[in-house]
Amino acid sequence: MESNLKSLKIEAENEIKKAEDLDEIYRKYLGKKGKITQILSSLKDLPEQERREKGKEINILKNFIEEEIKKRKSSFVKATEDKEEWIDITHPGKKIETGHLNPLTLVKREAEEIFQSMGFYIAEGPDIENEWYNFDALNIPKDHPARDQWDTFWLKTKDKLLLRAHTSPVQIHYMESHKPPIRIIAPGNAFRHEATDASHEFQFMQIEGLMIDKSVSVPNFKAIIEEFFRRFFDKKVEIRLRPDFFPFTEPSFDISMSCIVCGGKGCPACKNSGWIEMAGAGMVHPNVLKAGKIDPKLWQGWAFGFGLERLAMMKYKINDIRLFREGDLRFLKQF
Ligand code: PHE
Repeated sequence: MESNLKSLKIEAENEIKKAEDLDEIYRKYLGKKGKITQILSSLKDLPEQERREKGKEINILKNFIEEEIKKRKSSFVKATEDKEEWIDITHPGKKIETGHLNPLTLVKREAEEIFQSMGFYIAEGPDIENEWYNFDALNIPKDHPARDQWDTFWLKTKDKLLLRAHTSPVQIHYMESHKPPIRIIAPGNAFRHEATDASHEFQFMQIEGLMIDKSVSVPNFKAIIEEFFRRFFDKKVEIRLRPDFFPFTEPSFDISMSCIVCGGKGCPACKNSGWIEMAGAGMVHPNVLKAGKIDPKLWQGWAFGFGLERLAMMKYKINDIRLFREGDLRFLKQF
């Protein structure tokens, strides 16, 4: 046993000196199934006196091995500390992940840029409105059935506040605070109490447009919209105006464009009609000008309201409106 321990000591000492992995050496001698551990547990069958003596010897060896391992470890640390700091300049850097703009933001910015270059200012209004701005001032009186066209989110407040159902209230805010001539667009959120599906969301974005001057007319409007589409889609797009109804415009029309997906031949995206509805528009109703403190005998104008998501869906050929706000990175990272 004694010579056995001696040779074990020499063996361990040598191995520790040469070792590259000290943990492995630790396991080999002192781990659960390590050599020393095994000898220690084999002592239990010896008579008491002998067990004590042997135990002592083995424990001395055990402490010795532990100490040697510790010493060698600290010499490692010292060696690396002594080395001068060294930087590998050829090592590839860590890639910094940059965020992505939502396609709605991209489309909003692009539309703003195009309209600004045609002399339009960008106006803003609050997402929370009162009845006057969302309805009355826009020639939609209380209890008028036309209000049903906008499924409204009412807030539980005394003064009947609501989430604006369209961006048209910005027309009134702007007229109140500015004298004509007026040329603005107003991009922003709108909210409607509707069931969601591939083409409807309860929160969406619109771009309102308003131009007021002495003699603006429908042909002016058509020319501006055609130019906007040509630049936004980077090609000539056919547009079509059809009579429609909005209380705040007279006459009113809806604007459709020839389907980008099939080039107007007819496909599922345009329900085989070759046309896609993009906006409501019309000549500003005299009552709206009056509500905005503008004299309808001197001034006239047109207004439009585009669905921003529609524009984005056409531009990037996206087939489900819900993708914009779901936060799915697989979708967002493509932009
Ligand atoms: N505000 C209308 C809507 O959301 C669109 C519109 C704007 C129509 C301006 C005419 C003029 O349905």
